[in-house]
Amino acid sequence: MKQWTLEERYRVLESAEDVRDLFGRILKSVYRQTYHIMPVTGLSSDPNGFVYHDGVWHLYYQWCPWGAVHGLKYWYHVSSKDLIHWTNEGVGLKPDKIFDNKGTHSGSAIAYGDDLYLFYTGNHRDENWVRTPYTCAAKIGPDGKPVKLPEPLFGPRPDYSEHQRDPKVIWVPDQKKYFIFIGAQTMDKKGTALIYKSSDLLSGWEFAGQLNVPGFEDFGGMWECPCIVNISGKDILIFSPQYTKLPGRAESTNHNVYIVGKMDYDTLTFTPEADYQYLDFGFDFYAAQFAANVEDPDKAILIAWIGLPDNHYPTEPDEWEGSMCLPRELRLVNGKLVQTPVEGIEQLRIEEVAADGTLPAVFEMEAAVKGGDADLNLFTKADGSGGLTIHYDDARKTAVIDRTGMNKRFNENVGEVLEMPLDRPLEKLRIFADKCSVEIFANDGESTFTTHLYPEADEFNYTATDNVEVKIWTLAPSVKDDFVI
Ligand code: FRU
Repeated sequence: MKQWTLEERYRVLESAEDVRDLFGRILKSVYRQTYHIMPVTGLSSDPNGFVYHDGVWHLYYQWCPWGAVHGLKYWYHVSSKDLIHWTNEGVGLKPDKIFDNKGTHSGSAIAYGDDLYLFYTGNHRDENWVRTPYTCAAKIGPDGKPVKLPEPLFGPRPDYSEHQRDPKVIWVPDQKKYFIFIGAQTMDKKGTALIYKSSDLLSGWEFAGQLNVPGFEDFGGMWECPCIVNISGKDILIFSPQYTKLPGRAESTNHNVYIVGKMDYDTLTFTPEADYQYLDFGFDFYAAQFAANVEDPDKAILIAWIGLPDNHYPTEPDEWEGSMCLPRELRLVNGKLVQTPVEGIEQLRIEEVAADGTLPAVFEMEAAVKGGDADLNLFTKADGSGGLTIHYDDARKTAVIDRTGMNKRFNENVGEVLEMPLDRPLEKLRIFADKCSVEIFANDGESTFTTHLYPEADEFNYTATDNVEVKIWTLAPSVKDDFVI
């Protein structure tokens, strides 16, 4: 594994030429995806600034240009008309001000009249590497490029640790005010969110207080990327708690959860109506963000990073890593989020291929399960050994998903076996595989499981028990892998 110096990781991108050769090398990677958003070069992590505006979906991702390493972070911009076909638009936010000199970190977008604004964390570090996080904004100009406000909107609270970042900005009609949720850590290292409010989007921000979530006063050491949305009259708070192990998550200390409840903006209290739930049961799912400006009161659109902080992935030698999950439509059913891949994704199907035990390079699979225990093993050797095994245990209504059988093992230290619990017996799996990722939607999205996976040439086979009926489609590419900086 390459050892990066601080200087290499935090090098400033002067021009597209700096990464042109790197892009050429990356294109040779057999794991470049075909219908998932992935970094143009280097590393992508959190989705940022996800918004629908003037008939176009805009999305940015945290981007480190130089390789599969977390370093100086930019916002890289992609756009889409349908959430399926995506175009590279080039660099969005650059760390080119003193207040964001060591990274334009995560944040959100909001429409304001006819204009679009990005809210982000300016990650400032001084010569002693002491960090000061600023909450900053930029307006999208007529050429589609952000123009930063000359000064940050506000700096960090002195009574919380340096971990204060990832502004999610929303308009709260009842209050006639804008609110910002900031992921934070208390001085005694507990995760939380800080809330700011203002009647004007671009000035007059005041600290309202710490978000109070009864029962969650000691839940993880930092809440990254908090985000709130209303679906069917209920508030849904999502965040990524860190520095803690949670049940059913093996050794991982990074998670992405949601709580259904009611947000009271007068008392800054989010009252849960039930315990937290995992957004996704897989190995690699983090920093999920709701799209802003979705008009339908009964659904939200969500996207997340397929990856986790602190993990290392087998594309590191190929000089890139990370991708976005497929955008998902979320509905609230019986207090749970039901997630389905974005409507219209079927248009990517090229043709249905024979269910003969072999797998195409890129595919969608539907597996109908006819009752009882069931096995579906993907990416096995031709003799059926190895692979990503999915064992459904009917008595426990749980699928056990195990990637220890793959040729390429990775992140063994955080666990390679996880369980996906279901609310009712397994009837259906819908699986999307794309070179280095697998997304599994069980029972029409009542539970989901997302993972990176790096099958090799001798692993494109599958086996299934007799009670599993499989259909497979090849899929067309929908994300352009072109050099736009
Ligand atoms: C989450 C995160 C955010 C931060 C960003 C930096 O993965 O750590 O809290 O803004 O990544 O890239």
